[in-house]
Amino acid sequence: MEVKTSLLDNMIGVGDMVLLEPLSEESFIENLKKRFDHNEIYTYIGSVVISMNPYKSLSIYSAEKVEEYRNRNFYELSPHIYALADEAYRSLRHQDKDQCILITGESGAGKTEASKFVMSYVAAVCGKGQEVNKVKEQLLQSNPVLEAFGNAKTVRNDNSSRFGKYMDIEFDFKGDPLGGVISNYLLEKSRVVKQPRGERNFHIFYQLLSGASDDMLKKLKLDRDFSKYNYLSLDSATVNGLDDAASFRTVRNAMQIVGFMEDEVQSILELIAAVLKLGNIEFKPESRVNGFDESRVKDKNDLKEMCELLGIEQSVLERAFSFRTVEAKMEKVSTTLNVAQAYYARDALAKNLYSRLFTWLVNRINESIKAQTKTRKKVMGVLDIYGFEIFEDNSFEQFIINYCNEKLQQIFIELTLREEQEEYIREGIEWTNIEYFNNAIICDLIENNKNGILAMLDEECLRPGTVTDETFLDKLNTVCAEHQHFESRLSKNSKFLTDHSLPHNCFRIQHYAGKVLYRVEGFVDKNNDLLYRDLSQAMYKANHNLIKLLFPEGNPAKVNLKRPPTAGFQFRASVGTLMKNLLTKNPNYIRCIKPNDKKAAHIFTDSLVCHQVRYLGLMENVRVRRAGYAFRQAYEPCLERYKMLCKQTWPHWKGPAREGVEVLLSDLQVPAEEFAYGRSKIFIRNPRTLFFLEEKRRQCLEDLAALIQKIYRGWKCRTHFLLLKKSQVVVAAWYRRFAQQKKYQKIRCSALVVQSFIRGWKARKLLRELKHKKRCEEAVTTISAYWHGTQVRREYRKFFRANAGKKIYDFTIQRIIQKYYLGLKKTMPSMSPIDKSWSTCPYGFLDGTHQELRRIFHLWRCKKYRSQFTEEKKATYEEKLAASELFKDKKALYPSSVSQPFKGDYVEITKNPKYQKLNSLVEDKVLLADVVSKINRANGKGTPRIFLLTKKCLVLADQKTGQVKASVPLPDLSSVFVSTQNDGFFALKLREGATSAAKGDYLLSSDRLIEIITKLYCTGAASAERNQIKIDISDEFLVQFKQDKVCVKFIQGTPKNSNSVSCKRKNNRLLEVSVPSP
Ligand SMILES: Nc1ncnc2c1ncn2[C@@H]1O[C@H](COP(=O)(O)OP(=O)(O)OP(=O)(O)O)[C@@H](O)[C@H]1O
Ligand SMILES: [Mg+2]
Repeated sequence: MEVKTSLLDNMIGVGDMVLLEPLSEESFIENLKKRFDHNEIYTYIGSVVISMNPYKSLSIYSAEKVEEYRNRNFYELSPHIYALADEAYRSLRHQDKDQCILITGESGAGKTEASKFVMSYVAAVCGKGQEVNKVKEQLLQSNPVLEAFGNAKTVRNDNSSRFGKYMDIEFDFKGDPLGGVISNYLLEKSRVVKQPRGERNFHIFYQLLSGASDDMLKKLKLDRDFSKYNYLSLDSATVNGLDDAASFRTVRNAMQIVGFMEDEVQSILELIAAVLKLGNIEFKPESRVNGFDESRVKDKNDLKEMCELLGIEQSVLERAFSFRTVEAKMEKVSTTLNVAQAYYARDALAKNLYSRLFTWLVNRINESIKAQTKTRKKVMGVLDIYGFEIFEDNSFEQFIINYCNEKLQQIFIELTLREEQEEYIREGIEWTNIEYFNNAIICDLIENNKNGILAMLDEECLRPGTVTDETFLDKLNTVCAEHQHFESRLSKNSKFLTDHSLPHNCFRIQHYAGKVLYRVEGFVDKNNDLLYRDLSQAMYKANHNLIKLLFPEGNPAKVNLKRPPTAGFQFRASVGTLMKNLLTKNPNYIRCIKPNDKKAAHIFTDSLVCHQVRYLGLMENVRVRRAGYAFRQAYEPCLERYKMLCKQTWPHWKGPAREGVEVLLSDLQVPAEEFAYGRSKIFIRNPRTLFFLEEKRRQCLEDLAALIQKIYRGWKCRTHFLLLKKSQVVVAAWYRRFAQQKKYQKIRCSALVVQSFIRGWKARKLLRELKHKKRCEEAVTTISAYWHGTQVRREYRKFFRANAGKKIYDFTIQRIIQKYYLGLKKTMPSMSPIDKSWSTCPYGFLDGTHQELRRIFHLWRCKKYRSQFTEEKKATYEEKLAASELFKDKKALYPSSVSQPFKGDYVEITKNPKYQKLNSLVEDKVLLADVVSKINRANGKGTPRIFLLTKKCLVLADQKTGQVKASVPLPDLSSVFVSTQNDGFFALKLREGATSAAKGDYLLSSDRLIEIITKLYCTGAASAERNQIKIDISDEFLVQFKQDKVCVKFIQGTPKNSNSVSCKRKNNRLLEVSVPSP
């Protein structure tokens, strides 16, 4: 691809008018035309960009183009608006200079488009990032919103800006956008209620009706049909190439991006709908008694719907359309409105509603896009103000718009022409003066505080008495008549008296851009911009947040009787502020030119272009540039910028800056005619010289950059290397240490192993030696013992060979017996006679001794035991012993008696008073007293009897009475019979012939049979007569009952009552005692 290095490359015509040869109006226009025909719509005059409206889309705004122009020198590429935007952005970024881009030109010349290209270029080249992109997007998207509400189709431009816009884009020190501030200037609000033929109302009305959904329209009580709304002109309701529905979607989307809330959008649309409804309200006259007409609303439906939309009480608004309250010095006077006044009031309300909404919208956008930081910002202002307008019928709006354009022209002249010339003079540069038209005189005609047209208009508006547009014109005629740029039929200047092109109700001003005829009708009203207080109060009462906000003066609590400042005054003030603002910034100009009146591509109307070239003062501009120097700069920054191009000035120049620049330029061999030295600045005649310097600088910078880069890289590599080296030493040291540590550990481990092996081996060797030594010692001892033994035995053999064996034997036996006794002593059993334990004999030959010792020990301990007994206890035991001898293993009842002590007296004979008599009868001590059963021989049944035994006799007595039934002296008792069984039957056999034997033997039964018989036996044995009573134990014995002998037989049986013994008489001779088996 071919790379351009200058705008001179492949140039069509001349890219910079400064280079035009020969320079004339014709060649100027011819050059423009030639370039226009080749789609080269941009041409420079030095740093000013002339932009021709191509009326067709060109492919010169692509992202590639942006890249092409990015960071390139202004004159390096073919002229383009991007070059200007880039220059402005770079100066802002690098030289910290606030910039403003002034876009001027007449309506339809392409100002708004140009401003958008500038903004989009800056957005494309500045920084990126989430936050920055959001700011950019918001700034860019503010355009469609403002255009929808502030632009309209006019005969000159399908998208004509009907308001002035100045936008400050704010950047941080890096050049990233932070936010912006938009100022708007005087919206042409008369358009809301009336549009000239062939023009439209503001776009938003058409966009809403075309693009809103049916639902939304229903909500807003609107109809899609434009023809239903009086405020919408119908002859150009649709515009070729404009898609209102799509635009509506774009606008809504833009609003969302800018940050409008859904409810805010809804409120805005409600207001738009309300304006449309307002236009449909019509009035009819109604005669009153005083002869005046009073207006009445014709069809209240629209009024009702509008009131519903805005939440206004219908009656309040209706009244405000019929009456007007005038307040003066605390007095209120209410007058009726006639139909014309009602229409006036309606339109005033509509205009105010819309223009206030627009101002609110701008403020709301400002709120969204304002920069969030308070740090110092760099600013780039973009001014897109309505262009110069010359209509057939020009009114107050055109007057204001043209005034504004006059002021801008003034700035242009101020800064480019006058400033330039003045600067040459100031700097002492040789210079031939160039004549140019200074429009300050026109500005003065309009804005002069004393007798300027605006001041006159304000004076007229504030004057008491009847004020009309005509009285205003009269005033102008008297005050401005002498002014050379003011023309009026009635002015004293006679040359206009017969000028029929100048109607009586008009005045004409010779603007810098041409003569404009203004009709005075409406000037006073529009300047007053009055809205009846009743209407603003009705609006304030609305139940609608936005409406309330727009009419703060309607607040009854804040009634202000002072007149608000007039529209003219406000506009003059805001233009003044704008001018001051612009003067603080570095200006960049875009002069827009309209090629034809038909909005058509490829048509170049020479006369139209010529007219614009003239009034824009472009020729003068070129001339001044050509006569002067293309570039100038103070010596210090110039030297600072180019000092690297010369050895003497680089890196520091020690003398005055001017001398430095001189040295620099002579060193570079720049021809002397190419520059001039001013007092504080160097002036370079030709842009090429500048390019030369810039190019040299660029190359030098590249070299310097390479040098810096080289040194930096060297330094970086060196520090990196040193760091690596240092690190390597550290790493190596650590590694060596680690390796040595590891090696040492390994050696240490090995040493320990070797050491332990050696120690083990040594220890084992020592152990072996010691063991061997010990064994040797033991062997020596043994051998010596044996040897000694042998010696001793050999020596003493002769002494005890004869009895040594016996002695040793005895000694051994003695030792064994001694050991046995000592052992026995330790294992002696307890002293209890019933303890049968006895240790086993350890030695077989002592078995007999062992058993004998056991027996002796037992006898000894029995004796010991017995020796503890008392006499009484001894007697008891003797009795028990006797019982044992008598019954043990002979009578089955015996074992049960062993454990029972023999008490003797069981009936307590001495104590019981019942037996006192019985006791006294018995002489001796009662040895035994018990109740026994005396068995009746007849039936075998027992009768209880007291059985007493004394030393001499035994007595049987009645148990109840104690009466003695029988007394048997013990010697009379021969024997006693008892069975072997477990029963208590015993028979006392009396000696034959004894006196007591007369009644026969006694068969008795007692549970204590053993005791009774034992005592009986012992007592008999112990008596003086030594009466041995024989005890006969057998299961069958004979008992002599008086005469009869009855056999008592004991059987083991199973009587019914198995637990008791039963005795039954079987026959005369047999009593059978059945004893239960054990
Ligand atoms: N560079 C361009 N490329 C293509 N078309 C352009 C260009 N500049 C302007 N136009 C066309 O010209 C029309 C009018 O331009 P623009 O709205 O910018 O004029 P203006 O100077 O702002 O007018 P006004 O003063 O009425 O606002 C645009 O709608 C567009 O169609
Ligand atoms: Mg515009």
